[in-house]
Amino acid sequence: MRDILELENVSLIYQSELKETEAVKDLSFSVKDGEFVSIIGPSGCGKTTVLSMIAGLIPTTKGKILYKNEQIEKVSSGVSYMLQRDELFPWRTIEKNVYLPLEIKKIKDASAYERANDLIKKYGLEDFKKAFPHELSGGMRQRAALIRTLSTSPDVLLLDEPFSALDYQTRLSVCNDVYKIIKSEKKTAILVTHDISEAISLSDRILVLTKRPATLYKEHVLPFNKRLSPLKRREQKEFPILFDVLWRELNDEN
Ligand SMILES: Nc1ncnc2c1ncn2[C@@H]1O[C@H](COP(=O)(O)OP(=O)(O)OP(=O)(O)O)[C@@H](O)[C@H]1O
Ligand SMILES: [Mg+2]
Repeated sequence: MRDILELENVSLIYQSELKETEAVKDLSFSVKDGEFVSIIGPSGCGKTTVLSMIAGLIPTTKGKILYKNEQIEKVSSGVSYMLQRDELFPWRTIEKNVYLPLEIKKIKDASAYERANDLIKKYGLEDFKKAFPHELSGGMRQRAALIRTLSTSPDVLLLDEPFSALDYQTRLSVCNDVYKIIKSEKKTAILVTHDISEAISLSDRILVLTKRPATLYKEHVLPFNKRLSPLKRREQKEFPILFDVLWRELNDEN
């Protein structure tokens, strides 16, 4: 598999009138096409900043980020970002929420809307197309937000704590759904999470960052069979061992 994303010695310093904040320092890693990579690290270490640079929302202070071998300089339709607190707009119906990125990007082809409708149907929201977000469960809203992120047919999905607002039970089942959707659509995903179990249950690889300024501390390639669902992974004997290793690494860094 080829690399779809490469970060080469990336650093980011936020400048304000009063101070400089070094958020990311000399960070390098790459992601292969179709890979699911999770990023974990201490609170405030610079994880959202890393995703924002990959999304093209903020330029790097030093170093470069390549998407399909080309330097990212602005927001690209190939990379789609689901924000840390991605809310559906309460005054728009589910279908209108899903169409929003198409409207923003001024995409008018009927085929793009057909594709969005197919996703709504395929992932069980057909009967709720005309409903408003408050009429759906938390898990369904999360699925709708993910479908919205997929509506412009990106290759890479950036997911910043997408499940943090859900209760534990819902979180497990939404995780399973989201995993299925990402794998069946053959997307590359980078997930930022605080939840070690979630990272182990979803990823091909986990990157552990240091405390701020974030740089790469450890990297783990997970040993699971690709056909195992996130829920099944939780039952494997390697699961608690990995949890323990990652937990220690995060605490070393706190
Ligand atoms: N726009 C900004 N201007 C100035 N400083 C910022 C800005 N955004 C983030 N920071 C600072 O950069 C550092 C990293 O922030 P970031 O949001 O990337 O961390 P994070 O790892 O995502 O945190 P969390 O785990 O709480 O989500 C923090 O010290 C934060 O205060
Ligand atoms: Mg964050």
